[in-house]
Amino acid sequence: MKELVASDVEAYAEAHSMPESDARRRLREETYRSVELPQMVVGPLEGAFLKMMAMLVEAKHVLEIGTFTGYSALCFAEALPEGGTVITCDIDAETTELAKRYWAQSPVGGKIESRLGPALETMHTLEGGFDLIFIDADKMNYLNYYQRGLELLSPKGVMLIDNVLWSGEVLKHPAQDGVTAVLQDLNRVVIADPRVAAVLVTIRDGVFVVRFRNEGMQEAAMDE
Ligand SMILES: C[S@@+](CC[C@H](N)C(=O)[O-])C[C@H]1O[C@@H](n2cnc3c(N)ncnc32)[C@H](O)[C@@H]1O
Repeated sequence: MKELVASDVEAYAEAHSMPESDARRRLREETYRSVELPQMVVGPLEGAFLKMMAMLVEAKHVLEIGTFTGYSALCFAEALPEGGTVITCDIDAETTELAKRYWAQSPVGGKIESRLGPALETMHTLEGGFDLIFIDADKMNYLNYYQRGLELLSPKGVMLIDNVLWSGEVLKHPAQDGVTAVLQDLNRVVIADPRVAAVLVTIRDGVFVVRFRNEGMQEAAMDE
């Protein structure tokens, strides 16, 4: 992933944001020591942003698409009140096992529930009412995750979609590869969708922040 924000700016922002918990720091270090593509972890600055989003919407129930080694799930769990839950989906049993080991060492890890299997299938087994949905898995399914996500999102909830700048590749026309083309499509669909208000935030690799324009729009999402 290409750095879109200068590293000294990123470091300054990180130093002036909520600190990373010990549990998350240990998990991130272990991921960088022992797992391929460790840069998939959102890291401390985006992690603080995710946690802040959960705090702002006073989230009780979070759905995450893309667990990896469990770092972002921990960010959400740290923001939830007693009784809050994070359901997190992944297809990789090995990285999910590592995630579970670290969740077990965290005081908030008990709030996290893992669902192993293709995320879209899992999403179809779930009922709505999620206050926050974070999409961070296989990009080819992003449009499907977005559409199903809107059906599962609570009226005042927020959906966060990661990597929508794709190292800046989305600026190139025509798209140089299939994933970029899907992300360009998604970005067009989201911003033209009359049901939602959205802002594409240039944090790390780009995060779309999406919510319903008004509460009636959630029913419109169910009718589609
Ligand atoms: C970018 S990583 C998630 C990083 C994680 N959110 C974090 O910050 O620690 C993407 C994950 O999506 C998972 N994934 C890929 N295809 C999937 C699918 N069809 N269903 C569920 N998970 C999938 C991968 O196994 C990988 O662990």
